[in-house]
Amino acid sequence: MIRAVVRTGASRYGHEHLGILHGWRGIIEPETRPLDRAAVGGILHLGGTILRSSRTNPYSRDGGPRLVVENAKKLGLDALVAIGGEDTLGVANRLHADFGFPVVGVPKTIDNDLSGTDYTFGFWTAVQIAVEAIDRLHTTADSHDRVMVVEVMGRHAGWIALESGLAGGADAILIPEVPTAVERVAELVNQREAQGRHFSIVVISEGVQFTDGSADSGELDEFGHVQLANVSVGDFLARRIRELTGKEARAVVLGHTQRGGTPLAFDRALATRFGVHAADMVADGLFGRMAAVRGDRVIDVPLAEAVGTLKTVPPEMFRDAEPFLG
Ligand code: F6P
Repeated sequence: MIRAVVRTGASRYGHEHLGILHGWRGIIEPETRPLDRAAVGGILHLGGTILRSSRTNPYSRDGGPRLVVENAKKLGLDALVAIGGEDTLGVANRLHADFGFPVVGVPKTIDNDLSGTDYTFGFWTAVQIAVEAIDRLHTTADSHDRVMVVEVMGRHAGWIALESGLAGGADAILIPEVPTAVERVAELVNQREAQGRHFSIVVISEGVQFTDGSADSGELDEFGHVQLANVSVGDFLARRIRELTGKEARAVVLGHTQRGGTPLAFDRALATRFGVHAADMVADGLFGRMAAVRGDRVIDVPLAEAVGTLKTVPPEMFRDAEPFLG
């Protein structure tokens, strides 16, 4: 999560900006750096954040929310731009509702699961990384007659699995929104085998649920989420496929490779447009709202709408992908 804080100046864009380091932690235990032109020059091609990040949730700490508000005053902040996904913007929304905190949001998550916006920035870059990995894994799958299970990120929403699976020509796609039986996947592998197609590529979201068994559960983070990086549903599925089909199956967990490296042009342009819109929202005092994209227009929506319900893959969109599988 990144935050830029704006101290309003004379002109619309002539504000003095301060970067808060490590997300919400950087306000609870103040850690900042100036965000002048020099600090933000030459960063377009970089992934991640120059302001660093953390998984700190002020609402899981005693007196945390009030401390954020008090420290923001002490730092002389007129407004705060919160950049992140459901957790970061969920806190921003609560601070605005509880204290009238002057915050605007920018949707940034590879998960693409914020409502009110067609896309969050980072998403298509993560999809592209996954597609490149699937393309490479085809080689071994084909030459060694194997089942390759590719586990991508997506705790509650299967956007990355759906789009990368479609673009990568996956034989099966499993997403959290559609609980699936492991046996169904094994059947598909066997069907392909019977048709002379001796390999399969199965793309699955890390948050996928199986109706006939489950992987081990892991520890929780400050937002109460299971740390899925320590629970491999991919390994579980590959093991079960081996047991049920007798075929060699391997799992590849793409993990944090999807959150790094050079962003795609689409994400760079989208992030830049969101930034301009966030500055406009601050200048116009439109707090408690988030920049969003609908079609080719950048608009803004209430933060409460963006984080109220997660934007998951609609069943009809998943069904449309099915003819291409198997
Ligand atoms: O929330 C974004 C996300 O990329 C999820 O898809 C994933 O489950 C999680 O972050 C991983 O978090 P961490 O880096 O803390 O393991």
